[in-house]
Amino acid sequence: MRSALKFVTVFFFAAVTAAGAQNAVRFDSSAKVFRLDGGDVSYAFGINDRNELQPLYWGSRLGAADSFPPAHTNEGNASFDMSTSATPQEFAGWGAGLQLEPALKITFPDGNRDLVLHYVSHRIEGNTLSIRLKDVEREVFVELRYEIDPATGILGRSAKIENKTAAALMIEQAAAATWTLPHGTNYTLDSLTGRWAGEDQLQQEAMHQGQRVLESRRGSTGHQNDPWFAIERAHTNDQDAGDVWFGALAWSGSWRITVEQDLLNQVRVTGGYNPFDFGYKLNPGESLATPVFYGGYSSHGIGEASRLLHRFELAQILPQRPNPHPRPVIYNSWEATEFNVTESGQETLAEKAASIGVERFVVDDGWFGQRKDDHAGLGDWYVNQQKFPNGLKPLIDKVHSLGMDFGLWVEPEMVNPNSDLYRKHPDWVLNFAGRPRTEGRNQLVLNLARPDVRAYVFGFLDKLLSENDIAFLKWDYNRNWSEPGWPAVASDEQKQVYVKYVDNLYGILRELREKHPKVEIESCSGGGGRVDLGILRYTDEVWPSDNTDPFDRLTIQDGFTYAYTPEVMMAWVTETPSGPNYAPLSLQYRFLSSMQGGLGVGSNLNHWQAEDFATAKHLIDEYKQIRETVQHGSLYRLVSPRNGSEQSVTESVSSDRNQAAVFASLHSSQFGYPYPLLYLRGLDPKAQYKLHWITAKPGGDLPETATGAFWMNSGLQLNLMGDFQAAAFRLDRVAP
Ligand code: DGJ
Repeated sequence: MRSALKFVTVFFFAAVTAAGAQNAVRFDSSAKVFRLDGGDVSYAFGINDRNELQPLYWGSRLGAADSFPPAHTNEGNASFDMSTSATPQEFAGWGAGLQLEPALKITFPDGNRDLVLHYVSHRIEGNTLSIRLKDVEREVFVELRYEIDPATGILGRSAKIENKTAAALMIEQAAAATWTLPHGTNYTLDSLTGRWAGEDQLQQEAMHQGQRVLESRRGSTGHQNDPWFAIERAHTNDQDAGDVWFGALAWSGSWRITVEQDLLNQVRVTGGYNPFDFGYKLNPGESLATPVFYGGYSSHGIGEASRLLHRFELAQILPQRPNPHPRPVIYNSWEATEFNVTESGQETLAEKAASIGVERFVVDDGWFGQRKDDHAGLGDWYVNQQKFPNGLKPLIDKVHSLGMDFGLWVEPEMVNPNSDLYRKHPDWVLNFAGRPRTEGRNQLVLNLARPDVRAYVFGFLDKLLSENDIAFLKWDYNRNWSEPGWPAVASDEQKQVYVKYVDNLYGILRELREKHPKVEIESCSGGGGRVDLGILRYTDEVWPSDNTDPFDRLTIQDGFTYAYTPEVMMAWVTETPSGPNYAPLSLQYRFLSSMQGGLGVGSNLNHWQAEDFATAKHLIDEYKQIRETVQHGSLYRLVSPRNGSEQSVTESVSSDRNQAAVFASLHSSQFGYPYPLLYLRGLDPKAQYKLHWITAKPGGDLPETATGAFWMNSGLQLNLMGDFQAAAFRLDRVAP
């Protein structure tokens, strides 16, 4: 009681806002405990007896008057695991015997590599807490930033390292944050791994003592791991039950997230710049800011964890936050015409696309320079005169006259050695002086960290957008780094390329958006090679995979949505036999797979018959009725397509619970085994909902109208049978 009173007294003025609500960030000065509250989450840490920041709590929201006793350091484990390792820290320097993953590691010019960070001061402003740490002896400061989202309880954490000593120092490792979970042994780590054309495969593994590293060493986010994790306590197969801690790193360069369960079963997650080949020289007076590492908690399972992230991304991350426009239905030329884009060919496709209700027509690769295939042209961003004799304007005008807006593909960071740009500036690419330059897809990576390269890239994009009425850029990036050298700067500054390249990428995107506010941008990297919360601050959507096979996509999309909102998940309907699997799948099946994100069409419409246009028009009309629900609503994974499942069922519920959209698909039926019963989620149990079939009704009797309680509890039987079958319906609230 005494401590509760103390909390109230100390914070009486600060804790009461005009609306009478509790403040999001509070400091109990007598216990030296910080507490942040948002959504259903509370987060607390204290300043311990050694003056370190020590985590105390991260979980369900606590009572407003609940308080924590002061943080105190833990004993070590004999002389081998020192107290520094036995005591969790919010942000530990590598020093004083720390054996766990440090947040920060520095080498000083005199050879000292010991860094011990202690609390100095703090500042609270609204939902933001800043804390200043300092090395016990040297003038090295770290400013930690915490910002809590009042709606979801998702916390954004980052660090800024400042060198106030008289000499340059070398930062060898810099994380944004360490997250600490309650100690325990019953944890399951969820991560997303993949490869080109096979992104976002959800992995679930029991945690054991030791480290598990998720990372990219490739210069960009990469297809191999998403910078996302979730840790479930007492994992169950119920998507909506159990404690889950999750996080996502907002960085599009090389990154690392280290998940560790130490010898005392402390579980912690440290993430930031990848220390592999890292070395950031910090001169006196300079500072280095880390990316933001977002973290959240759900007491309602991994399903709710992903819905919290979706809400957060829509409201706090995406460029059009807090209310992004739903994605328009697009047509993209790539799978239809590849590099063979011409004015007349694209006009024909545009007419056909407009006839089925497409809203945005996008010309992909091939329109510029001497681009006939992937051997030439990248870097020469002028319109190819053979293909577009009068520039892009006639095609853009035509697209507009058909009621669509116009989008264009670019790959700004790359150059083909066979290009005018490379012949003029061979020194502009990443390279080690005098060494061979490894090509990928016959191209090299421009060193965007160089000011002249940054200026060139911004300049040509600005000109392109100023001279043409372009509503959308598909920004591609089709290889990873090799030989990441920067010979133009001193050898001890070359590794700054890992940071400065990405900072300049973000800078270009930011300035382009400021100057051309109506232009929307898609992040693509040979599919989903650059998807993360960093790039999503500047791009409205992403291309999740070059694999457009509608069956494979179900698994990719399932994984993708653990980390990212369906709003940004573009999905095209492409040709059949389709994708890498060459399975002849119906147009309806292909549409229903793609309608679960931002819908696009990439088929060669010149090959379609009248009935294909009719099916497409019908399904695009239907999609427009549910797209707000699909893109902005709450996603429930009713049946997962993973692990060889024969079925996949998703349900999206609008935020006002007035509508639900359900997509069900079947790989192959087996004689005698019915389709699983469906139990919908997230509806208003008392409201009446009317059923509307988006596809033809499959077998199985469903009522025309029933309460939310009925749809959620009765067990709906769809009689999908055969191979690659799919059905979809929506429910609309009709009363009350
Ligand atoms: C890779 C992308 O992922 C494709 O969609 C397409 O734009 C090609 N690049 C074009 O080269």
